Amino acid sequence: MRIDDPKLAAAIVALGVEHRPGVSLAEKTSLGIGGTSDLLVIQKHEALPELVQLLKQSRLPYRFMGGGSNLLLPDGELPWVILQLARREPDIRIEGNSVWADCAADLGRTVTTCAKQNLGGMEGLIGVPGTIGGALRMNAGAYGTQIGTHVREVQVFRPASGRIETLRGSEINFEYRHTSFAPDDIMLSVRLELPSKPYSEILQGIRVCNEKRRASQPLNQKSAGCIFKNPPGASAGRMIDELGLKGHSVGDARVSDRHANFFVNAGHATAADMLALIADVRNRVRERYGVELEEEVIVWKPS
Ligand code: EPU
Repeated sequence: MRIDDPKLAAAIVALGVEHRPGVSLAEKTSLGIGGTSDLLVIQKHEALPELVQLLKQSRLPYRFMGGGSNLLLPDGELPWVILQLARREPDIRIEGNSVWADCAADLGRTVTTCAKQNLGGMEGLIGVPGTIGGALRMNAGAYGTQIGTHVREVQVFRPASGRIETLRGSEINFEYRHTSFAPDDIMLSVRLELPSKPYSEILQGIRVCNEKRRASQPLNQKSAGCIFKNPPGASAGRMIDELGLKGHSVGDARVSDRHANFFVNAGHATAADMLALIADVRNRVRERYGVELEEEVIVWKPS
């Protein structure tokens, strides 16, 4: 979506928001798939209420994007203006066992920064790509850790109220790859409370998780992590593997040879290829196991 009205563009820039016209968004996602749109990079969180009001008044549809590591965007010109938070410095601040992190902060760097201050509990999340905000929205988890366990406070912009609000951790439901945030909530910053642990012990935990991940996941290929959520008591990856679908492809969208719940972009895959592969694998799993797999990757479909 293009912002054609020069007055609107000027009003947006006057809020301290950077306007980048016609950005190729494939480059901003780990799958390397997606079309183009105008990108609005928000430097100051306080600008959000006014920015969103301006966009609404101008009837310009918008979507907010985090680190793009669990996202499948459509091809072609996107029907939304894209909003993204700029990375600010410092984006991680530590005081005792409390960690304040900007939602644009990199998740992995947050884990290692905390480790250096002898704060653990997040070892399992090492190697999960993306931002703190994205991890919060999905309640990212791996190897027995989930971020929600450590959340004490979240600052969030809620378009429904038009305000920036502070929620206590206890007011948010964190479930398996799901939270009670509204779909249009924009997470701004979080306060985590992490247990004290010696650096050497944390490092050992990080090494173990890194090794497990390297052994089982296609880390050097473009992917969005696991495509489907695991159904209760089962593994989507194992089911897809048992169906002999490793290497199965539509165009350049391909079921990874290493982990069958990772679908990789093996070249120039389009969103249409990836969506067709997702639908095909889902149908085959339904036919064989009678299980309806639910996407874990967030799919933006033009309505
Ligand atoms: N398996 C196969 N074939 C495969 C893949 C897996 O037989 O192609 C088997 C494995 O051998 C194992 C079982 O399935 O016995 C489970 O596999 P794995 O340990 O890799 O875990 P997963 O359930 O497939 C989940 C998360 C991952 C997370 C790992 C480690 C989901 C959907 N996936 O994978 O998260 O990294 O556990 O904790 O919950 C993600 O969210 O994007 C993600 C990758």
